[in-house]
Amino acid sequence: MKFSRITGTGGYLPERILTNQELEAMVDTTDEWIQERTGIKQRHIAADGETTADLGTKAARLAMQMAGKTADDIDLIIVATTTPAKIFPSTACLVQQQLGIHGCPAFDVQAVCTGFVYALATANSFIRSGMAKTALVIGAETLSRIVDWTDRTTCVLFADGAGAVILEESDEPGILSTHLHADGRYEELLHVPNAQASSDDAQKVEAHICMKGNEVFKMAVNTLGRIADETLAANNFEKEDIDWLVPHQANTRIITATARKLKLPMEKVVVTVDKHGNTSAASVPLAFDTAVRDGRIKRGDAIILEAFGGGFTWGSALLKF
Ligand code: ACO
Repeated sequence: MKFSRITGTGGYLPERILTNQELEAMVDTTDEWIQERTGIKQRHIAADGETTADLGTKAARLAMQMAGKTADDIDLIIVATTTPAKIFPSTACLVQQQLGIHGCPAFDVQAVCTGFVYALATANSFIRSGMAKTALVIGAETLSRIVDWTDRTTCVLFADGAGAVILEESDEPGILSTHLHADGRYEELLHVPNAQASSDDAQKVEAHICMKGNEVFKMAVNTLGRIADETLAANNFEKEDIDWLVPHQANTRIITATARKLKLPMEKVVVTVDKHGNTSAASVPLAFDTAVRDGRIKRGDAIILEAFGGGFTWGSALLKF
């Protein structure tokens, strides 16, 4: 059986930066509270008319460039998003159109903050079963469009961005294992009550993120610790075999607690939440790309990706870069 391997990464953040100081003028909050409770200093917000597909396409172009791939090489496109540009066509089809790729399967995956891990696991299965050779896997979000900008408990957290990888057929692994989970019992703790998400009228129809942050926090810490153990055990890996943890970027306190459970020093954990905020499905590939491009993640490194989000959904991947 073939394996799959990441051969290129890319990331894109909208130009507009929204600082904590600006949020102080919008809701009853302080820079100090946001930094202390979340670690976030700033986040990026998409421009009017800039869609999730636009962000995803920009990240995809950079990943294709790094992998040395042209439009003709791509034979599968999966986009993980909670904020599709349109209800249909899928954001994957819109990205496909923008990239000038025609004919290959293209579809979206919706697993909120765990979306990219779900998409990567799906693309890995396509490649390993011979259904694709070169997959473009994207996590892209414009969460700013489903945030209630008068709710201080959520509006300081979420942000926009996109990350992408090229996953290619390979004789050597690559992706060593993926682990996906969901439990719909927790719907009410983190959800968007109305299905009209991402439309320009989102605020009017109350299609915004509602979250019982404190309860989500506790579940996230316990679940991410458990899935890290599950991932190591499935591969007979010890904690010290891991070079990098690339976690979902929701909150530095959750990331620190997970790293502590893994006995990983923070120097081995990629943290971007301070500059990116929580970009949901985009957060893991954006963090991954950041650490690849600044030279921290190197070829051959053993890396755990992990995420937790609405659903609840949670998942992980162990890979050799
Ligand atoms: N500024 C100032 N005060 C605030 C703010 C704010 N922006 N937001 C809340 N507060 C207040 C609350 O009203 C509360 O006040 P009270 O004690 O008078 O009632 C107090 O701060 C403490 O509130 P908590 O909710 O208990 O604060 P907590 O320390 O839990 O931090 C946070 C909140 C940051 C949301 C945290 O709970 C968290 O990160 N949760 C997990 C988020 C997450 O991982 N989500 C999953 C992925 S996202 C997805 O799937 C889309």
